[in-house]
Amino acid sequence: MLFAVGSWRGAPGVTTTALALAESWPGPQSPVVLECDPRGGSVACRFLIPGSRTVEALASAARHGGDARLLAEHTRTTSAGAAVVTAPEDGERLRPLIAALAKPGGLLSTVAADSGAVMFADCGRLDPRDAETRAVLACAESLILVIRPVVEHALGLKAVLGQIRELHRDVGLVLVGPGYSSAELTWLLELPVWGTLPLLPTGTTSRAVERLRRDRTQAGFREAAAGVADVLIERRLVAGSAPHAVRMAEEVGASA
Ligand SMILES: Nc1ncnc2c1ncn2[C@@H]1O[C@H](COP(=O)(O)OP(=O)(O)OP(=O)(O)O)[C@@H](O)[C@H]1O
Ligand SMILES: [Mg+2]
Repeated sequence: MLFAVGSWRGAPGVTTTALALAESWPGPQSPVVLECDPRGGSVACRFLIPGSRTVEALASAARHGGDARLLAEHTRTTSAGAAVVTAPEDGERLRPLIAALAKPGGLLSTVAADSGAVMFADCGRLDPRDAETRAVLACAESLILVIRPVVEHALGLKAVLGQIRELHRDVGLVLVGPGYSSAELTWLLELPVWGTLPLLPTGTTSRAVERLRRDRTQAGFREAAAGVADVLIERRLVAGSAPHAVRMAEEVGASA
């Protein structure tokens, strides 16, 4: 299973959401976050993880193919417990590595087809001109679009809905922080809301990361993320291995 996570504008919390989903995944699989934001990775810096970024070794090891086991061998674990394939901060170095992993028959397509594996691909801010992002999205079963439910994000998204739908046929929103309700956004954007994460104090120093870890638990952050993960799992159960069938079934039902 491969879920792409991205945003359209701003920095609403894509990386934070991908990490939270991995930390809170309620299923039996061990999820992995792949940093594939063409603007470069941020997890190693944020969590002060020393050493080289693991995507480089993964892309090299997977050049003739690869599976979930190979993927798991190339992760680092954050202090909050997420297994991450970390990426260089320089996006130009990252792009060819992502392209290699996302090529047809490559590691991402193998992991995507493996129901015993769960990957969250942090695609960062989505730009339809990024070939690497399009390649990752082609492997993903759904696109989790992270937004702050505020007027500029909501109306900005409404203006580009056509482009969003071209990027992926199965798109759902995760709202970060307060603002418009799920019902208002679903009405405005005609996209389902798969969950809401609370806004928490964050920072990039190790002390702040520790505080975030505590706060996540105290404020129900993990529970909220697990709620989003439950929605992803439920949709798969309803739709079999092709969740976009849910949308298609709804469309058929609506037109009947
Ligand atoms: N739920 C949250 N509560 C509070 N702050 C958050 C939350 N999610 C993200 N943030 C903060 O917002 C900022 C951006 O978060 P994050 O890096 O996850 O966003 P992003 O969308 O991945 O950004 P970028 O496009 O720069 O990679 C960070 O400072 C982070 O600490
Ligand atoms: Mg990010």
